[in-house]
Amino acid sequence: MSDAPGIGVFDSGIGGLTVLKALRAALPPSERLLYLGDTARVPYGTKSDETVVRYAFEGARFLTRRGIKALVVACNTMSAVALPELQRAMPFPVVGVIGPGAEAACRATKSRVIGVIGTAATVKSGAYPRAIAFHLPEARVVARACPLFVPLAEEGWVDNDVARATARTYLADLRGGGIDTLVLGCTHYPLLKTVIGEAIGPGVTLVDSAEATATVVRRRLEEKGLLAAGAAPAGSAAGATGGAAAGRGHFYVTDSSERFLEVGQRFLGQPLGSLELVDITG
Ligand code: DGL
Repeated sequence: MSDAPGIGVFDSGIGGLTVLKALRAALPPSERLLYLGDTARVPYGTKSDETVVRYAFEGARFLTRRGIKALVVACNTMSAVALPELQRAMPFPVVGVIGPGAEAACRATKSRVIGVIGTAATVKSGAYPRAIAFHLPEARVVARACPLFVPLAEEGWVDNDVARATARTYLADLRGGGIDTLVLGCTHYPLLKTVIGEAIGPGVTLVDSAEATATVVRRRLEEKGLLAAGAAPAGSAAGATGGAAAGRGHFYVTDSSERFLEVGQRFLGQPLGSLELVDITG
């Protein structure tokens, strides 16, 4: 692996691959992406704030030791609970997913009634309503925790009867409540986009903060003069397809890697590259 500092992408598990995928589309192919999935301790979304902050620092320090020039906190729960502390402590730009997702939702809504779904910790934190109020003070936010979506995504059960019944049950209250925009406020939820879209019904825009985050990361790197040399992929906006993908990423996981490999490859549509089992608690 090259010694050039990379970009750390940290999630509690597999869901952050949604952000990695968007980063690959938004950044030059020479950019090195170091992904850390804390698969031994996922989910974070059911844990206390103190525990999430501790895990966040352990992961951030682990990636720092591997050599990074920026950190993307790809996990909504960590972004909701630990982002300001990480930003204060780390000597490089730290970008979370909540600000970019909230901004994208404010751009998308016409009714100004925005739904947010996420983990229990993310919903409890109030981070999305605060970020939405910052951009669109008159918006009304209806939030709902959907904890079972996380194990479904980790298991790869994203398009079966169990996933459909779970989505219908969680989203029954939100459906028909006037929302025209629904923020998928958890890294894992874009994997269930199809069943979530069916359950919430037509006419509701699903906002996936991954692409919005990738755009912000690119901008921050440019502003700081940190963007790797080389042309961006064709149509370099986040979410674009085509062209060489950025970063032959390196993947670190904290627990057995088999399911991560299988679900991750299926999700990214290509082999993950090198995968390493690590202990980040030291
Ligand atoms: N990555 C977490 C998030 O985006 C979901 C999984 C978890 O609870 O750890 O909130």
